[in-house]
Amino acid sequence: MNNLEKEIFLILGAGNMGICFVKALIQNRIKANRIKIIEKNPSRELMVLKRKKKIEVFKDTKKVSTNINPSIVLLAVKPNQLSKALSSEFLNITKNSLIISIIAGKSLKELKKVTKNSNCVRAMTNTPASVGMGTSLVFYDRNTKQKNKKLSNNFLSLIGQVNETKSEKQMDIFTAIFGGGPAYIYLFIDILTQISKKAKFKNSRNMVIQTFLGSLLLLLSEKDEPVNLKKKVTSKGGTTESALSILENNKGLNNLMQKALKKAEQRSKELNKI
Ligand SMILES: NC(=O)c1ccc[n+]([C@@H]2O[C@H](COP(=O)([O-])OP(=O)(O)OC[C@H]3O[C@@H](n4cnc5c(N)ncnc54)[C@H](OP(=O)(O)O)[C@@H]3O)[C@@H](O)[C@H]2O)c1
Repeated sequence: MNNLEKEIFLILGAGNMGICFVKALIQNRIKANRIKIIEKNPSRELMVLKRKKKIEVFKDTKKVSTNINPSIVLLAVKPNQLSKALSSEFLNITKNSLIISIIAGKSLKELKKVTKNSNCVRAMTNTPASVGMGTSLVFYDRNTKQKNKKLSNNFLSLIGQVNETKSEKQMDIFTAIFGGGPAYIYLFIDILTQISKKAKFKNSRNMVIQTFLGSLLLLLSEKDEPVNLKKKVTSKGGTTESALSILENNKGLNNLMQKALKKAEQRSKELNKI
């Protein structure tokens, strides 16, 4: 039970990320009349939801009904779109709400200032949220009420796993590792698929996906460390050992990943300042 059924939700921005929450709310049997959306450019998917489920969608924060009293507000617009979205009408209807932001680079201090609301929580997540398998990081400060921590946790759990950090600075490295994580995994899948295609396997894409999926399920079922499972595949003098001798030579792949993620973390810090 997620204990969210009595809440009223207002989603600001139902693009890639916002729509994940809308769908997760519906899947978790939250009544459609408790879900309100502000989206200036509704996708076809959102229009279908609006029509079928009768969810109220407002085009603009200035046109939002004054009587909706949202208890939980999700900020899911792009960082550079936030200030324009915070109209006096929006600030007025959200002054008593819990505000959860997944906007990259907006600090909790800044969020509180611009929303004129001290009940703000900052989170970051990633795209597997769209299939309920997101990995989220949430940051509360000393003043966050216990009740709001629980509500935020329940809300973010709708789209996957939630982890808490005591240090807001960790948001940058989280963004580098886990925000971009799906892209690194897809890159690896793509490289293996290309090599497999070159070797003339017709079903390359599915074969690679199956190898990833199977390896992950095995990892979960064995409850062992990846490094030990890797050893099980690697027999002395065998083919895998030959490949790993290249990938791991002088910690090659490891160093490359460290370098790449350091750069992504640095970029996240730079973007925070824009
Ligand atoms: N994508 C990711 O992997 C990811 C992961 C974690 C967190 N985030 C964060 O999530 C936030 C949203 O990202 P996204 O990829 O979902 O962006 P997105 O697809 O562009 O979604 C934002 C939506 O909000 C709409 N919008 C902007 N200003 C508005 C306003 N004033 N009133 C009504 N609607 C408005 C946009 O319309 P227009 O299309 O017309 O601009 C767009 O449809 C970002 O801040 C990002 O940092 C993203």
